[in-house]
Amino acid sequence: MAPIDPHSFTDSTHPVTTHIALSLYLDFPSSTIHATALLSLSTPHTGPLSLDTRSLTIHSVLDPQSQAPIPFSLSSDQDPIRGRHLTLSLSNHSSFLVVYSTSPSSSALQWLSPPQTFNKTLPFVYTQCQSIHARSVFPCQDTPAARVTYTCLLNVPSSLSAVMSARHVTRRSPSESSPSHAPPPPHATWGAEGRAVEEFVMDQPIPTYLFAFAVGELGFREVGPRTRVYAEAAGPVLDEAAREFAGTEEMVQQGERLFGPYDWERFDLLVLPPSFPYGGMENPRMVFLTPTVIKGDASGAQVVAHELAHSWTGNLITNKTNDHFWLNEGFTTYAERRIVEAVQGEDRAALNIGIGWKGLNEEMERFKDNMEFTKLKTNQEGVDPDDVYSQVPYEKGFQFLWRIERQIGRPAFDEFLKKYINTFKFKSIDTETFLDFLKANVPGIEKDIDLELWTEGTGIPPDAYEPVSNIYTKIVSLANEFKLGRMPREDEVADWQGQEWELYLENLPKAVEASQILALDERYRLSESKDYEVKVAFLQLAISAKCRDYYGEVEKTLKSVGRMKYLRPLYTALVQGTGKEEEKILAKRVFAEARDCYHPIAQGVVESIFAKHL
Ligand code: BES
Ligand code: ZN
Repeated sequence: MAPIDPHSFTDSTHPVTTHIALSLYLDFPSSTIHATALLSLSTPHTGPLSLDTRSLTIHSVLDPQSQAPIPFSLSSDQDPIRGRHLTLSLSNHSSFLVVYSTSPSSSALQWLSPPQTFNKTLPFVYTQCQSIHARSVFPCQDTPAARVTYTCLLNVPSSLSAVMSARHVTRRSPSESSPSHAPPPPHATWGAEGRAVEEFVMDQPIPTYLFAFAVGELGFREVGPRTRVYAEAAGPVLDEAAREFAGTEEMVQQGERLFGPYDWERFDLLVLPPSFPYGGMENPRMVFLTPTVIKGDASGAQVVAHELAHSWTGNLITNKTNDHFWLNEGFTTYAERRIVEAVQGEDRAALNIGIGWKGLNEEMERFKDNMEFTKLKTNQEGVDPDDVYSQVPYEKGFQFLWRIERQIGRPAFDEFLKKYINTFKFKSIDTETFLDFLKANVPGIEKDIDLELWTEGTGIPPDAYEPVSNIYTKIVSLANEFKLGRMPREDEVADWQGQEWELYLENLPKAVEASQILALDERYRLSESKDYEVKVAFLQLAISAKCRDYYGEVEKTLKSVGRMKYLRPLYTALVQGTGKEEEKILAKRVFAEARDCYHPIAQGVVESIFAKHL
């Protein structure tokens, strides 16, 4: 037994899965999927084969040709991070069929009841598989070291439609026969009236964390030659989203100019309900987005630029394990800012770098007792990636690449990036592979930059760089003046958008007096901002100052969004530190009332914040 990934039971001596054919019957009343998964291996195998599962009931494993049962065992103990180890006993099999069901607590799936949606009459369900949740939807070798192609049949109520991060083939009645490559129906009611089957194919190999679907009452608008925006058809979201993302094609073209051809054919966007736990998720062909990015300023496009950039860095070249997560997020943050610079200008890009710089410095404080997670290359043995998710891989990774760019100059770095993408596309790599490629292509680089310090050292290296630009410098100095009691004048903030306020608030001292908080809000109404970045940054300060006037707004915010970027700082501000009894009681009550509206991943993260501080 030789694990290849600290977060997976996948064994290095076993063949890898190359293709998965799924049939999923979605049963909304019981929040369960009844399913079959036909897995094909790279070579026929005899002996044990290890798979990852979580919250799955395995009914049987069959030889796909003879239907003969294949012996299997599911570990009785549940590893708190990896889930349950499924071991099959194969006899020269190159494929096998697993018949199984998910459970209502499957961590990738959020089932929304009709009242939790816009239309209020029909349910909704969607997946979030990164980092290690695909195993709660289907049994698999759930490690980004292995890549698979897949087909998927989704059997859904005919009042709903489905989208996937894959090519849509057809929507048909379940009584029409399945294509020959499809596994058999997993459920007796497969052909029942009032159901429809949506068929999808993904023929480019992807890591399992990029598997994704959503099912609900969906509509779409065309916003570009390869881009539709999808969202719940009821309510105003669809039109607002179409307006917000009208500039998407221009960004795709800038991406192609910088990083080479866009390889995924379509670049569609799906705006999810407010409980979506991330800002965006780079599911190939169909990026998933929180509705909180729709606010009519530059920042929505920034999130799209980030997820688009993953089409090259992350989805084409993938981190081999989560220990090398910076290869995904650091490169993508760098690429995102190049796209932002091209479409929104240098000042906007510098502002984003500045917000990131502040975020990176704050993470050093968060991890001061656990410096392992201030490294680029980490050791995540025994660690849940959701618990140590931070800005470090994004912003320290960005800083590292920006440092290399400064050393060799932009034209040479651009050429290097294109070559890197071309060399490793559709591969999963680690930090060493990147460093070897860097040294081979930029001879002598290790003499100018301490590559080991950057990738293996803790903290922020001395040659990291705070950005300089007019607006960035102005905002930081205004924030410093606030410490001396001067509030910015109306004319100084007249043209500020959300990101300017965000940077300003994040640079204020953490210990501001309640009276100062009230005065600032009286003038600029930040607590009522429709921009959650601004509102949450302000509410965090209000909680630190124990300014009770805002606790009602804090509660409202925690009950209206499930994006972890907002839940994490607000719950942490409420429960950390001493002498905060009232705040702790508030946090516990609000979580008890809001819990059901959060995605299971977000529920877990809030629970671990409580476990640490309560
Ligand atoms: N891939 C991430 C989201 C993610 C990371 C999900 C780790 C699960 C585990 C995505 O690309 C991302 O970074 N989203 C950011 C967007 C931002 C940096 C513009 C987010 O959600 O805040
Ligand atoms: Zn990302």
